[in-house]
Amino acid sequence: MSRIFDPTELEQVDPALRPRNLGEYVGQERIKDNLGVYMRAAVQRGDPLDHVLLAGPPGLGKTSLAYIIAEELGTELRTASGPTIERGGDLAAILTSLQPRDVLFIDEIHRLNRAVEEIMYPAMEDFLLDIVLGQGPSAQSVKVQVAPFTLVGATTRSGLLTPPLRARFGIQCTLDFYAPAELEQILLRSAERMGIQITQPGARELSTRSRGTPRIANRLLRRTRDFAQVQGTGIVDLDITRVALDRLEVDADGLDKMDRRILETIVHKFDGGPVGVDNLAAAIGEERDTIEEVYEPYLIREGYLQRTPRGRVLTRKGRGHLGLPLVDGQEELF
Ligand SMILES: Nc1ncnc2c1ncn2[C@@H]1O[C@H](COP(=O)(O)OP(=O)(O)OP(=O)(O)O)[C@@H](O)[C@H]1O
Ligand SMILES: [Mg+2]
Repeated sequence: MSRIFDPTELEQVDPALRPRNLGEYVGQERIKDNLGVYMRAAVQRGDPLDHVLLAGPPGLGKTSLAYIIAEELGTELRTASGPTIERGGDLAAILTSLQPRDVLFIDEIHRLNRAVEEIMYPAMEDFLLDIVLGQGPSAQSVKVQVAPFTLVGATTRSGLLTPPLRARFGIQCTLDFYAPAELEQILLRSAERMGIQITQPGARELSTRSRGTPRIANRLLRRTRDFAQVQGTGIVDLDITRVALDRLEVDADGLDKMDRRILETIVHKFDGGPVGVDNLAAAIGEERDTIEEVYEPYLIREGYLQRTPRGRVLTRKGRGHLGLPLVDGQEELF
């Protein structure tokens, strides 16, 4: 099923919209403050920055932050993605090509395979490559030193990271959804960069209906601009924003069709829950991973849905959102 603003969809980009330094990176204040200290300290000592794990739902700014880290450290960023590093040799090739203090960014780090992970451990700890040459009794283990580097790993599923890999990240940051005021700031800046005229009420409306996610906010801004251009005055104001979001089936609280479908399915097919995520995924016809990675985090964070040991349960707020009467004794469930 295609979504008009699937937060996982690749940026159509506008690289201009990517914040380029910590100053342009809105929100996530604690993470920025702490990272700023760690980076300054590492640069002063001439050391590579300790390895950084960036975790959080899609579109919250993990990749952007990885680029900024390299930029602020004044080093090169090398990028790779977990599933594309298939064999130990692939990782060895990447690691041996790094210059001292380079940043290696690995997206979807929870999807590294076992063999690659085993090579990663000594590389992260001691900048050592431990390679086995040959097979059987004549096999030889060779240790090669690689340049001291910083691994920045990003994941939408930190729960799937193996404990030994996670333990080797000295800096762990979990990104949170953005507050409307922060999204408003991002939207105003994006509008300026794209040459879009936007009013404050228009920006505010978009900011409260973007699921706390900068990528969604930017995408809704682009779509609203289309409506403003074709059906409005060309200016993204409150009226045209409401028209556009209505057409995009984004409701007043920013939930989209799929979000509502999840809530409705739990009510109508599973009596409000608890329902296991596999059953829910089958009933909706969506991948389990997509539900867990893309949709659920926001629904849970905003209190529409609860994850219990027996499965997902619709909350009072979830029922209220669908305009359903509250069930007797539902409070006791929580
Ligand atoms: N803190 C921020 N300030 C300003 N813009 C941001 C911020 N975070 C994200 N953005 C905008 O949102 C877009 C998506 O961010 P990014 O690609 O970094 O997300 P991500 O967490 O890596 O997502 P995914 O998990 O899908 O890879 C960026 O291109 C940028 O335009
Ligand atoms: Mg990314």
